[in-house]
Amino acid sequence: MAGLDGLRVLLLLAGLVAMANCQVNPTVVLTTTTGQTNSTVVLATTTAPFVVVSENATVDPKNSTGPPPPMCNYSGEADKTGFLFTFEDVTEGNYSIKLTELSTGVSNKVTNEVPLNGTNATHLLQYLKPSTDYRVHISPSNEPKVTCGGNLELKTNGINQDEIVELPTDSYQDICYKTEWNINNAVFDVSRKDYTFCIKPKYTDLCTNLTTLIYPTLTLTKWIGLEYLNPDNIKLEVPNKLPAEINWRNQEDLKCEGLGINFTCQGPDRREYKLDKLEPYTKYSCTGVLYNLNKTIAIEKKVTKEVEITCDLELMKVTAAPSKESVKFQWNTSSKNCSNLSQHNDLLYSCKCNDAPKAHSTLPSKERCEVTGLLPFTAYYCEIQPRFNDKPIGRPTKIRSSTSAGVPKAVEIEKTTQVEHNAFQVECTDLKKEDWKGPDTFYHATITGSEEKKTNGKCFFEFRDLSYSTGYTVSIFAFNGVNSGKAGRVQLQTSWALVFEA
Ligand SMILES: *[C@@H]1O[C@H](CO)[C@@H](O)[C@H](O)[C@H]1NC(C)=O
Ligand SMILES: *[C@@H]1O[C@H](CO)[C@@H](O)[C@H](O)[C@H]1NC(C)=O
Ligand SMILES: *[C@@H]1O[C@H](CO)[C@@H](O)[C@H](O)[C@H]1NC(C)=O
Ligand SMILES: *[C@@H]1O[C@H](CO)[C@@H](O)[C@H](O)[C@H]1NC(C)=O
Ligand SMILES: *[C@@H]1O[C@H](CO)[C@@H](O)[C@H](O)[C@H]1NC(C)=O
Ligand SMILES: *[C@@H]1O[C@H](CO)[C@@H](O)[C@H](O)[C@H]1NC(C)=O
Ligand SMILES: *[C@@H]1O[C@H](CO)[C@@H](O)[C@H](O)[C@H]1NC(C)=O
Ligand SMILES: *[C@@H]1O[C@H](CO)[C@@H](O)[C@H](O)[C@H]1NC(C)=O
Ligand SMILES: *[C@@H]1O[C@H](CO)[C@@H](O)[C@H](O)[C@H]1NC(C)=O
Ligand SMILES: *[C@@H]1O[C@H](CO)[C@@H](O)[C@H](O)[C@H]1NC(C)=O
Ligand SMILES: *[C@@H]1O[C@H](CO)[C@@H](O)[C@H](O)[C@H]1NC(C)=O
Ligand SMILES: *[C@@H]1O[C@H](CO)[C@@H](O)[C@H](O)[C@H]1NC(C)=O
Repeated sequence: MAGLDGLRVLLLLAGLVAMANCQVNPTVVLTTTTGQTNSTVVLATTTAPFVVVSENATVDPKNSTGPPPPMCNYSGEADKTGFLFTFEDVTEGNYSIKLTELSTGVSNKVTNEVPLNGTNATHLLQYLKPSTDYRVHISPSNEPKVTCGGNLELKTNGINQDEIVELPTDSYQDICYKTEWNINNAVFDVSRKDYTFCIKPKYTDLCTNLTTLIYPTLTLTKWIGLEYLNPDNIKLEVPNKLPAEINWRNQEDLKCEGLGINFTCQGPDRREYKLDKLEPYTKYSCTGVLYNLNKTIAIEKKVTKEVEITCDLELMKVTAAPSKESVKFQWNTSSKNCSNLSQHNDLLYSCKCNDAPKAHSTLPSKERCEVTGLLPFTAYYCEIQPRFNDKPIGRPTKIRSSTSAGVPKAVEIEKTTQVEHNAFQVECTDLKKEDWKGPDTFYHATITGSEEKKTNGKCFFEFRDLSYSTGYTVSIFAFNGVNSGKAGRVQLQTSWALVFEA
């Protein structure tokens, strides 16, 4: 007897709400599943799903003392960012709402506590997805098996530009927006009152109208001003020439016009220098402030760069002028990238030669130097080291140079031996290798009364067939191929001839 059941439910419902003042008969009840013409019928419809769902358990026709079924027929329509539900007459209580997104089939019980009561109660369910079809399921919270009304299928409104609000920013890193629409792909959650999303403009988006599709039906367009320039994205080129310039390497990637960076550098003395006043081989910390020729930039943008300019220094035409115990060097300096460097007062040079313990260089000077205290006729490896502000810079220029021949050491006669009445041998101490100071090592000997000059590699000479009983002077000197040393002299006296007559 489904008809009877329905009737009773209807009666109970009418009694509960105390408004069904009409006389309802069974035939009316039977029309309820389809009829929607008068209020009584509508009331019946309200409870119809209830009857279906509860079936045997809740409604027992023989038990007239059971609790009245809740009355919660409703209508719904798209409103704001969700749906407005209107309950013509509703049993006081808490109701739960479940939504199913039709396209995905994803369901979510969005709320369990909508308190409703009385006539024309409304509930605005918000923060849903725009232009989306949902199936709505409302039940009394304490009777989840009951379905209020039918399962309505409703579609939310489309999203509008003005429902997206740009949030103020201090940092200008992102452009953030707020909307009460759930435009996230995440499962809808109506406890969130708004959704925030941010767009991070790229370096190349600056000074363009950036258009972002934020939802299939909506794009946002935003002018990306220079406020959004992140100085970290500015790529600067370290200067390697004088006068110094710091180039903005990726400036051309920007659509912005009339931009520049004004640099000021702080030197080791903590004073400020303009770029064209920078010295080479000096550490500076340069700070650049971005400027726009015409417009002011809302927030100051700064970049910093550590700068130390290293010049390409080349010593040209290095000449060495060696003498016996010193060598003078002279040269010209050129630098392609630091054109005036050679004239700089702080650019000096020091010179040194290896293996010369007693060597002494003139004080650092400009484009010339002399190393003294060298040994004659010796090959040296010398270096010219540029110095800026007394600190060595670049690489030393190496140059090989030999001192010129000196004068061999004086010969000292060691002994004389009279081997015959008129013959002598004269020996002197052989010079040490370093005493020669020249390419050759010969001893020359002369004796008075003779034009002959004896030559020997060893300091040993023999004079024969001299006149008897005559005084001679022997001179021996060392000759190194270039210079002759001081001669050693010795007086000799031949004896009388001893004539042995037979
Ligand atoms: C409801 O409508 C039916 C048919 O239209 C009518 O017979 C009945 O009297 C109406 N009931 C009330 C309470 O208006
Ligand atoms: C009950 O709900 C249906 C739709 O499900 C509607 O047509 C009818 O008017 C409602 N009745 C009342 C009394 O609100
Ligand atoms: C309702 O009652 C019918 C007939 O008595 C029975 O066949 C059916 O299983 C019952 N349903 C429930 C849910 O108890
Ligand atoms: C009638 O309903 C009341 C309350 O729900 C319950 O206590 C009682 O047992 C029911 N009686 C019958 C006959 O089902
Ligand atoms: C609805 O739920 C709230 C919170 O749980 C509770 O305070 C309130 O009393 C409930 N109202 C009704 C009518 O049950
Ligand atoms: C519900 O409505 C009835 C009648 O309008 C009223 O008496 C009752 O106080 C209301 N309940 C609440 C919790 O507002
Ligand atoms: C309920 O709303 C209807 C339609 O807007 C209106 O005619 C009626 O007077 C309202 N009832 C109450 C009790 O506010
Ligand atoms: C950006 O958009 C604004 C407003 O629509 C327009 O006036 C301007 O010319 C656009 N600028 C560029 C570079 O497209
Ligand atoms: C700056 O403004 C002047 C006129 O005020 C204009 O002629 C010039 O093109 C502008 N320069 C840039 C880079 O916008
Ligand atoms: C760069 O900065 C200096 C010192 O602050 C200032 O005098 C000069 O006008 C600036 N140049 C530009 C183009 O802004
Ligand atoms: C000199 O400058 C040019 C371009 O400015 C650069 O390519 C080159 O590497 C520099 N030379 C040195 C030695 O720094
Ligand atoms: C170095 O240059 C100067 C001036 O340019 C010139 O007078 C001098 O002769 C040059 N010296 C050498 C060693 O080339």
